[in-house]
Amino acid sequence: MFSKYKKGDQGSPELKSIPGGQAKSRPVSQPASSSTAVEVKRRNVSRNPGQVQAADKERKRKERLGEIKLELHKRLLDNLNLGALDTASESDLRAEIVSISGEALDEMGVVLNREERQTLNQDLYDEVTGLGPLEPLLKDDTVNDILVNGPQQVFVERAGRLELTDTTFKDERHLLRIIDKIVSAVGRRVDESNPYVDARLGDGSRFNAMVPPIAVDGSLVSIRKFKKEKLAIDDLVNFGAFTEEMAAYLQAAVATRLNVIVSGGTGSGKTTTLNALSSFIDNDERILTIEDTAELQLQQTHVGRMESRPPNVEGKGAVTQRDCLRNALRMRPDRIIVGETRGEEVIDMLQAMNTGHDGSMTTIHANSARDGVSRLENMIAMAGIEMPIKAVRSQISSAVNLIVQASRLQDGSRRMVSITEVTGMEGEVISMQEVFRYQRVGLTPDNKIIGHFTATGVRSHYSERFRMWGYDLPAAIFEPFAAE
Ligand SMILES: Nc1ncnc2c1ncn2[C@@H]1O[C@H](COP(=O)(O)OP(=O)(O)OP(=O)(O)O)[C@@H](O)[C@H]1O
Ligand SMILES: [Mg+2]
Repeated sequence: MFSKYKKGDQGSPELKSIPGGQAKSRPVSQPASSSTAVEVKRRNVSRNPGQVQAADKERKRKERLGEIKLELHKRLLDNLNLGALDTASESDLRAEIVSISGEALDEMGVVLNREERQTLNQDLYDEVTGLGPLEPLLKDDTVNDILVNGPQQVFVERAGRLELTDTTFKDERHLLRIIDKIVSAVGRRVDESNPYVDARLGDGSRFNAMVPPIAVDGSLVSIRKFKKEKLAIDDLVNFGAFTEEMAAYLQAAVATRLNVIVSGGTGSGKTTTLNALSSFIDNDERILTIEDTAELQLQQTHVGRMESRPPNVEGKGAVTQRDCLRNALRMRPDRIIVGETRGEEVIDMLQAMNTGHDGSMTTIHANSARDGVSRLENMIAMAGIEMPIKAVRSQISSAVNLIVQASRLQDGSRRMVSITEVTGMEGEVISMQEVFRYQRVGLTPDNKIIGHFTATGVRSHYSERFRMWGYDLPAAIFEPFAAE
């Protein structure tokens, strides 16, 4: 667990360094270290002309092999009975590939040694049975997201930055075949009459695809890779997503059962933050999680996970998040965690927060705490609930205690840019106070954001509650950042 301000935990309430040297060494997506880059460069410089020539030859050979592979793959697709692939045994398929590629190589007049042939056949096998060009990206642990814009353009996100890769598909048909393979493996279908699909892959990755004619320039695919090693509070502090002081505050908030909403834009780190915050929940509490795509990985023992289901092709059998939530309330939960509140389930979520399931958490798509509250109001209106605005707001203000704003800044870094407490109502307006914020001060020449976290100086509305529950947060935590 994170550093404790809880009474009785090793005495002193001073800020302690976060335990978790181990977590620090956890592999994370980061670019190759600069020292390695320098080393490689130096080695290149000291090469003699013979070595350079050999490297050149090797590069050309690889290029040539790549071209041959592309050509062979094309021939394989033309000659293999793709429909029969699912039922073919591995040895039959390998034999078939060896035979078709052997013939093609002869026809092309290409001579390869035994080893080259073996590698080529293995690559072709992967191509036919696996996910083709996507396979290496899926295996690459430094890649977080894969975004395909038609067959000729594949982007990946590494260390918070989007990069164009040299991965391509042969053509739209090739891309569609891979998409079809992915979605049929999870029992779904995508075609002209059913042109988009949102699914969770076997390994937990989130997958979304949209195919033509809705996708105008070729199929669009996005994959959010599932990470077994979820980022923990310590990791997020180490990455500069928030400070140790903010973590201590959040620990007190979650442990004392405040209702928390994590707000943020797409890919800003909402789910990651929610998952990390859940680690502050006591192990003996019964937690139910409800998600459209099960991504959360809670560490507690007593966890019931639910995943909503879209309608089938005939439009039947849908189980919405709202259905799950209503059912969850009958299942005696201590806390309810809804992965993302985006629709009519908002009503039940707020009611749950107001009626005995305090300590519940969810995320919403919004750009600030204030915006988050408006989003909740809109969701209530869209759900067809006719209530005076004041009543809606009063419902929100008594349900939600804390809004944590996650953001992906322009340099790719993800930070908790604000922690805001909901303190009640003033007339018709929900009153809030910001307790911590990220203060931007400038930009480095290579476009990295310079800034720091600071407390705003206000006293937490919940200080008394924290104290009563045994979380004595030192006053220093709430003092604004003082420049040295
Ligand atoms: N502070 C962080 N530092 C580095 N990477 C992070 C950080 N927070 C999240 N990530 C990574 O960013 C990616 C997106 O995070 P996450 O899924 O939590 O975002 P999200 O806001 O829930 O996205 P969506 O809107 O698509 O649901 C993940 O791969 C995650 O591992
Ligand atoms: Mg998410």
